[in-house]
Amino acid sequence: MTQVATATITQAMITPFDVQKIREDFPILAQQVNGRPLVYLDNGASAQKPLSVIESMNRYYRTDNANVHRGAHTLGDRATADFEGAREKVRAFLNARESREIIWTKGTTEAINVVASGLAQSLQPGDEILVSHMEHHANIVPWQMAAERSGAVLKVIPLDERGQLLEGAFETLLSSRTKILAITYVSNVLGTINPVREMIAQAKAIGALTLVDAAQALPHFNVDVQQLNCDFLAFSSHKLFGPTGIGVLYGKANCLEALPPYQGGGEMIERVTFAKTTWNELPYKFEAGTPAIAEAVGLGAALDYLNALDRPAIELHEQNLLKRAQLLAREVPGMHLIGTAEQKVPVVSFKIEGLHPSDIGTLLDQQGIAIRTGHHCAMPLMDFFAVPGTARASFAFYNTQEEVEQLFTALQKIQRMCC
Ligand SMILES: Cc1ncc(COP(=O)(O)O)c(C=O)c1O
Repeated sequence: MTQVATATITQAMITPFDVQKIREDFPILAQQVNGRPLVYLDNGASAQKPLSVIESMNRYYRTDNANVHRGAHTLGDRATADFEGAREKVRAFLNARESREIIWTKGTTEAINVVASGLAQSLQPGDEILVSHMEHHANIVPWQMAAERSGAVLKVIPLDERGQLLEGAFETLLSSRTKILAITYVSNVLGTINPVREMIAQAKAIGALTLVDAAQALPHFNVDVQQLNCDFLAFSSHKLFGPTGIGVLYGKANCLEALPPYQGGGEMIERVTFAKTTWNELPYKFEAGTPAIAEAVGLGAALDYLNALDRPAIELHEQNLLKRAQLLAREVPGMHLIGTAEQKVPVVSFKIEGLHPSDIGTLLDQQGIAIRTGHHCAMPLMDFFAVPGTARASFAFYNTQEEVEQLFTALQKIQRMCC
């Protein structure tokens, strides 16, 4: 019997969620990689797409493809209806008040850049931008650039050793100088879920703007922007079981109205003369050029798919995967988990004494197991934990308890072989 098999399986870990049936919706999962059934545990980097998403884009290109908002012919009207219909699906998914509050971007990165570069024009020297030590580079670098342009100062909320925001630190840093709180809902490396709702309330009480990076939150739980009361929220379609190349910036209408446009060009204008150009209304003011139409359709289909699932059952299933992984991790000699917050999504970052993370990744890949290794675009966080990088297994609802076991059986084998 392997060490893995000795781990206790409690009744609470067995849920009625029919994961095998769900897996049939994801054709990519049913393949062999390096002679073994694929175990895809790199969902934090990019999630797989259900057939309905793939087929929605196929159908769009087969029957409706044309440019949008041109209005001169039937295909153009259909493409516009598909495209604006997808925007409405995003609005409903986030429970935003109006669909003009949904701006299409290339992804989370571009969404944050839209806000940071816009605010850079009004920030003053000495103003403060508050981020946390666990941010992805996408929620650090745009703010550094904004700070450099405006003379504002970047302040960083420190962490504790479990990878949670250090108790009391946020309150200490928040002041009348804070102009924006830009915080990740969920850390891509640690899986930590931050108490963003409470933080937003505190930031708003002193008049600061708030932006939530929801890239790693939405794949695991629903987010209601009205309940959160954030001013801005960003996410990427490809992490949410939709296509690459598209994402969303949500903004309260008044905040978006006050923000200058990000790029100039077609679509974002009302009137152009050589003397002066005026901007289009929301959301088009932020959507210069031909947008990613088929991708919007695909994201709409991904949201339809998610809406049809029992999300509380999914959350329970994912938490059970996480508990199992945390239990099995204790049985791998020399393995240390990085990120052990009380509230976290099923992401397991780790190091194994004597093994480089990239070697772990390569050896797992030989056994058909896909994880991610490296700094995960969170170098300051790597510095905090004094590691060059980590190995990270990030789970989605289509992963199984058996796959968790396969991962840890493989890690035990690698540990025995190499250490
Ligand atoms: C928390 C977080 N924010 C932002 C991003 C950037 O997302 P994208 O590359 O899709 O723009 C990622 C991607 O991993 C992420 O995990």
